[in-house]
Amino acid sequence: MTDKLASVKEYEDVYKQRAQEVTSLYFASGTDEEITLEQNRKAFKRLRLRPRVLQDVSSIDVSASLLGHRVDIPICIAPTAWHAMVHPDAEVATAKAAEKMGTCMILSMHANKSLEEVRTKTPKGLKLLNLYLFQNQTLTLDLVRRAESACYDGLAVTIDNPCVRNPTKHHNLKEFASYSRRIIDNHGYGHLEKYLQGYDLGPPHPNGLPLGIRIRDLSATWQYVDWVRSKTKLPIIIKGVLTAEDAILAVNHGADAVIVSNHGGRRLDSVPATIEALPEVVRAIGDRVEVYVDGGIRNGIDVFKALALGAKAVFVGRAILYGLAHSGEEGVHHILEILKSELIRTMQFADKLVKVVC
Ligand SMILES: Cc1cc2nc3c(=O)[nH]c(=O)nc-3n(C[C@H](O)[C@H](O)[C@H](O)COP(=O)(O)O)c2cc1C
Repeated sequence: MTDKLASVKEYEDVYKQRAQEVTSLYFASGTDEEITLEQNRKAFKRLRLRPRVLQDVSSIDVSASLLGHRVDIPICIAPTAWHAMVHPDAEVATAKAAEKMGTCMILSMHANKSLEEVRTKTPKGLKLLNLYLFQNQTLTLDLVRRAESACYDGLAVTIDNPCVRNPTKHHNLKEFASYSRRIIDNHGYGHLEKYLQGYDLGPPHPNGLPLGIRIRDLSATWQYVDWVRSKTKLPIIIKGVLTAEDAILAVNHGADAVIVSNHGGRRLDSVPATIEALPEVVRAIGDRVEVYVDGGIRNGIDVFKALALGAKAVFVGRAILYGLAHSGEEGVHHILEILKSELIRTMQFADKLVKVVC
């Protein structure tokens, strides 16, 4: 790597200088006024640490156990779509970096590489398939069976994304739609490829949006989650919970873990920052299942704050994409290394944190 950068922020700056506008806006943007997108960062910055000193920090262990699997770091990879937009090795590069760092990756439903290829090329490590609740339940079930056959360790069911988002005024959905079609033509549509022709998907979307976005089930309720639960023994993570009420429902409907997430500020605008929602969810279900969080994590101090507020692990979206865009597998690996070493340094300064205060 020619220019090894020192922080996620530096990777982000380089990404924004180099990326084509259409990709840059797709990856970096939020929705509507981007209130939630902004708050995801600001809420982390508002939190103050209350450190303890002289606690023997000569040996720091950051490994964790997620769904019964050991991970070397509690910093995992959130599902993000279209990795081929920023690197030709796409999700395979990302998965290889995750495997090398001994951490968990959730493979997006909108990956360019198929779930089978990603698993075959990275057989080690905790890997989950992101699942959407599709109108066509046969399609949903088929994907569950494929995840089982390819030895995925679980499913991460995204529940906060039933319909097409309202993009910011900067993000031209039509332009993005035609750009993403070119990406699909050149790099494939991962595990959804064969469904492009295989199902009756109704009339095309006026913006020409890719298939996967159009075929989600707007009428889905928790009964759909029950149905998925009844079809598989794989652990199920529910991704997209922001309230105690939904967290309790998720557990009552069979979730093995929950990700407190607002989709990186890319769905309903004006919902709370995830780090603000985390304590409520931990209080509600933290003694029953594992709780993770994503949204706005850009450095090791953010990771530390999330762990201190009760998350078992964090998931990272955009920071990973900035590394991938910079230098593929190596860039993703370096982003994870940076976050790990920043987390360890924070723990050396602050010990096993006792409290975070606003
Ligand atoms: C470009 C992009 C694509 C995404 N695609 C998906 C997806 O396919 N499935 C999903 O559940 N979440 C998706 N997300 C949301 C992420 O999983 C995660 O919730 C979010 O990125 C976390 O915030 P952060 O980017 O600030 O780390 C996407 C996010 C981004 C930025």
